[in-house]
Amino acid sequence: MTAVDLGLPRIGGKAPGVADTATRPDTPYLVDGFGRVATDLRVSLTDRCNLRCTYCMPEDGLDWLPESNTLTDAELLRLLRIAVERLGITDIRLTGGEPLLRNGLEGLVEAIAGFRPRPRISLTTNAIGLARRAPRLAAAGLDRVNVSLDTLQEDRFKEIARRDRLRHVLDGLDAAREAGLNPVKINAVLLRGVNEDEAAPLLRFALDHGYHLRFIEQMPLDAQHGWDRENMITAEEILAKLRAEFDLAPSSTERGAAPAERWQVNGGPQEVGVIASVTRPFCAACDRTRLTADGQLRNCLFSQSETDLRTPLRAGESEEQIADHWRATMWVKAAGHGINSDEFTQPLRPMSAIGG
Ligand code: 5AD
Ligand code: SF4
Repeated sequence: MTAVDLGLPRIGGKAPGVADTATRPDTPYLVDGFGRVATDLRVSLTDRCNLRCTYCMPEDGLDWLPESNTLTDAELLRLLRIAVERLGITDIRLTGGEPLLRNGLEGLVEAIAGFRPRPRISLTTNAIGLARRAPRLAAAGLDRVNVSLDTLQEDRFKEIARRDRLRHVLDGLDAAREAGLNPVKINAVLLRGVNEDEAAPLLRFALDHGYHLRFIEQMPLDAQHGWDRENMITAEEILAKLRAEFDLAPSSTERGAAPAERWQVNGGPQEVGVIASVTRPFCAACDRTRLTADGQLRNCLFSQSETDLRTPLRAGESEEQIADHWRATMWVKAAGHGINSDEFTQPLRPMSAIGG
């Protein structure tokens, strides 16, 4: 397997992926050694989930993080405020596990919406329970949701998520749109031999209901370490399946740091996105930083190391000291995830404990 060129500038002839810590410019923002600036914070509110998607978790679930290690609301809000006020974070995405399982989520959203400058707030969810909670979340200040939905068939939902909850997800989607959490985005993962024939039906469903659909290539982030490149449905394959039924033209909207390559469907204005995390990595444009529910900072979904913010926070370090740990962590962010290199090793933490 040859390495994929990430199109990144290399600094001073150093090996790719290694930044020079001595030369970090004097800026409060979360810059890295390749000139990227992180403005988008993904925070995992819990590692627990009420589904068991096969590409994510084993049937019996995982050993959840101990309660005492999970940041309290007050601790979490302190870190998020540092991120917004001192580090230039403009977007906060709440993820899990399943973030709707976090007690007091509405209160967290409300507190985040009170920060200045007010960050955009979004939620990545499986939508179970959203039917009931969408109006309150919207009122609290939630701006948008991303809902995971891989199939429209009940028996397949049961096979993929190992729970019989498709109806709850569809109701949650409806409620999100009604509550104005727009655009409501759907994330879909296609699995070979399972739901690969649903690319076009999922798109038809999204177009009919006014949802924005994005397909995500399956990444090696499952707790079981069962990911297999041969089983991954590639972006190319997804596009071919869609083109059998729809006319797709490259979207003219600016992509920016957005991971999805967007396509206009049947002349537009509606679009479909394809997130080719593996076959066409977008690491060169990455603007993300990640915080886990137990207060560990990651500069990449695929980092091999984390920075513990919980301990300094609980030890009473100042906000500026904590901000400095954050800056130092981001400065050494690697050029890319390296999935396509022979040396790639999957991170210890699974997706459900990092946050999507
Ligand atoms: N590869 C790709 N996407 C994944 N997700 C969870 N695990 C994986 C994986 N291994 C998706 C979920 C959700 C989002 C957070 O990421 O379906 O939509
Ligand atoms: Fe839960 Fe999301 Fe993992 Fe599915 S992919 S088991 S919904 S955390």
